[in-house]
Amino acid sequence: MKRVITYGTFDLFHEGHYNILKRAKALGDYLIVGVTSESYDIERGKLNVRDSLLKRIENVRRTGFADEIIIEEYQGQKLSDIIKYKVDLLVLGSDWRGKFDYLKDYCDVKYLERTKNISSTELRGEGSTYTVGVVTDDDEDSGIVWETKYVSGLHVECVFSENEDAARSFCDKYELDSYYCVEAQTSEWEPGFDCFLSQVDIVYIKTEQAKRELYIRKALESGKHVISDAPMTGNKEKLKELFALAAKNKVLLVEKITLVYLRAFNQLVWQTHSALVGEIVSVKCSISQDHFEGGRSFSETAVQPLCAIIKILGKNYLEVKSNVVKDKAGKCIYDMITMRYPDALATIEIGTTVDVEDEFVVIGTKGRVTIPNDWWNTGYFEAKIDDSKGLKRYCFNFEGNGLRYLLQELLIMISDERTECTRLFNEESETLADILEIINQRG
Ligand code: CTP
Repeated sequence: MKRVITYGTFDLFHEGHYNILKRAKALGDYLIVGVTSESYDIERGKLNVRDSLLKRIENVRRTGFADEIIIEEYQGQKLSDIIKYKVDLLVLGSDWRGKFDYLKDYCDVKYLERTKNISSTELRGEGSTYTVGVVTDDDEDSGIVWETKYVSGLHVECVFSENEDAARSFCDKYELDSYYCVEAQTSEWEPGFDCFLSQVDIVYIKTEQAKRELYIRKALESGKHVISDAPMTGNKEKLKELFALAAKNKVLLVEKITLVYLRAFNQLVWQTHSALVGEIVSVKCSISQDHFEGGRSFSETAVQPLCAIIKILGKNYLEVKSNVVKDKAGKCIYDMITMRYPDALATIEIGTTVDVEDEFVVIGTKGRVTIPNDWWNTGYFEAKIDDSKGLKRYCFNFEGNGLRYLLQELLIMISDERTECTRLFNEESETLADILEIINQRG
């Protein structure tokens, strides 16, 4: 009996899928179909799959070609499947040509021509597409244009900048459709900004902090969803007003702290809350302002570790203290922020001009969890538990600069008609604003 195996996501099941299954079955007597699991797709950066695993399996089953359906859960599984299921032939579409030739030592490998003019990607594109507009001071991207390419249903189309040169240059550089700026004669920003708003569904604000609040307010008033670099404003009460305005206009206001969208970080939070290292005693975070891309001001850098701490230890801190070291000219070069909680202590070390070693550590009564280096963009963490030998590494695929995970989540939040961001709750953002205010008052 000739045993054939083929693999795929089979999202939004279409004619191309049907054809390859039919042809694969005709090449043998017994067909095994591997359908990718949701977590495997996320890990390999395929974030836009619409159908659930069950639905995709059901669609494959309904063709009647599959004698057995299995789930493909990790990279490298194909080899163990070939051995396990005594496979004679691996069949894949021509888009994979050459990629699996290394398996020829174990079974035959055949690439079949793809059915022309159809793909899941194309079908997904037919759903609702949201237009994104960028508000910026300069012509540097910070990843939004690139990262949206990985999220179907989103497209960056225009840019607004008060500075005409920056707007034009951004538009040219990233091949957008149009740019808007202040009026040359009157120097008024509102007419250009209104035109810009009329072209977009989602506004991404990456201007310097002082200008963000104004743009956020105006975009929310126009009924647009907003993503803004963090912090959105340095004042808790103003932030509350902005969230209220978003709720009134039934749109989402999302603070761009990509850390909270990363699987590795979420798993770390969940595991430490589930007592992986016992009771949490201390959380230590260090970050150098220079090392943090986009860290243009002290607050923009500080908001990242503060957010991590709030996610682990919660909003109910007892006291926050900032211990600044200044240079001879009175400029802050280093800050050690301490946050006291009833049963734990958090310390944040920020090197503004001096270099500190970027690291994130959670110390518990039974061990510790560490993310070395740039922990705000992490795909893994390590746990050292007292009673177990060695270090355990928890790894998750991480692609890009994290923004694509935020964008993907935003689309889900919009389609689920959620009223607030569920990765970083409004109250958590407000707590961040509160702490930043205290720290910035240190003089
Ligand atoms: N396939 C095909 N013809 C098409 C589309 C897919 O033969 N027009 C094949 C692929 O080559 C693969 C299998 O069907 O061997 C499952 O493909 P999958 O990646 O799930 O489908 P795509 O439509 O290619 O999905 P996407 O656009 O998300 O990559």
